[in-house]
Amino acid sequence: MTVMIDGKKTASQIQSELVNKAQALKKAGLTPCLAVVLVGDDPASQVYVRNKHRAAQKIGIKTKDIHLPKETSQAELLKLITELNSDPTVHAILVQMPLPAQIDAEAMINTIAPEKDADGLNPTNIGHLFMDDPRALACTPRGIMTLLEKYQIEVAGKEVVIIGRSNLVGRPLAALMLNADATVTIAHSKTKDLKKIARQADILVVATGRAEMITKDHIKEGAVVIDVGINRLADGRLVGDVAQGDLDGYVSYLTPVPGGVGPMTIAMLMQQTLELAEKSR
Ligand SMILES: NC(=O)c1ccc[n+]([C@@H]2O[C@H](COP(=O)([O-])OP(=O)(O)OC[C@H]3O[C@@H](n4cnc5c(N)ncnc54)[C@H](OP(=O)(O)O)[C@@H]3O)[C@@H](O)[C@H]2O)c1
Repeated sequence: MTVMIDGKKTASQIQSELVNKAQALKKAGLTPCLAVVLVGDDPASQVYVRNKHRAAQKIGIKTKDIHLPKETSQAELLKLITELNSDPTVHAILVQMPLPAQIDAEAMINTIAPEKDADGLNPTNIGHLFMDDPRALACTPRGIMTLLEKYQIEVAGKEVVIIGRSNLVGRPLAALMLNADATVTIAHSKTKDLKKIARQADILVVATGRAEMITKDHIKEGAVVIDVGINRLADGRLVGDVAQGDLDGYVSYLTPVPGGVGPMTIAMLMQQTLELAEKSR
């Protein structure tokens, strides 16, 4: 039987627990605050940003809602981040991506102070992660590790194959898996014989952004499959990067899309904001 990993339920449990943590910080005289910066009017980004504010509100995390016009220059954005870096009432900073073309995302990420890096993408934090001395962590990979932990899926000694090597998902996840004593393989678009490599996985993580590209014949029977992808098809349906239709009874665990990894990302963002606030004292 395949166990469907319920990310929605797990994320909601975590968020309920964070309410107490936020209250304890407030009692100690510290109001945790997340600054969320949106540049431009991308509709999807607006939805993501609204969801982040809502989740924070429910937990008792204050948010600063900063919406800049799409013509904002790189210098203007970096100046704002520098001001937020030195604002003692702000504990975590998130700049919603994608950014307009005139702004270099790397320069933005480099400017956020590592101790206020809500998304855990600053190279200093990535460096600490790779040295097995983790500080702020990338939220989606952290969400995946938390799901595995909550479902008591052993990682140590397992063959883990991650398909996708983005800075957002694949690379930081590989470091987390390695730190958790897995044997890690990272595959990407130049990988030869993807099927052979993927079939070696006890735990297969797919983050390619290609709708349903990974099929049953890429997967070893009994494997744990973590489908990170979120793709909207022409008919409006949301699907993952894995063709999940015929996996029931074949794999041991599977994350659905939607309701698997997605909800965990926001829960981890909230958890990280509280941790950064706590560490600021
Ligand atoms: N659930 C969440 O909260 C969450 C968070 C982030 C992302 N996502 C989703 O996860 C997916 C990946 O996101 P991302 O930001 O990591 O994407 P990305 O930056 O576009 O990276 C995609 C990766 O997949 C690899 N790839 C693409 N086509 C491939 C193929 N045919 N065979 C093997 N590898 C292939 C690419 O290889 P190369 O490096 O060689 O180009 C690249 O490393 C997307 O669907 C995104 O929406 C979900």
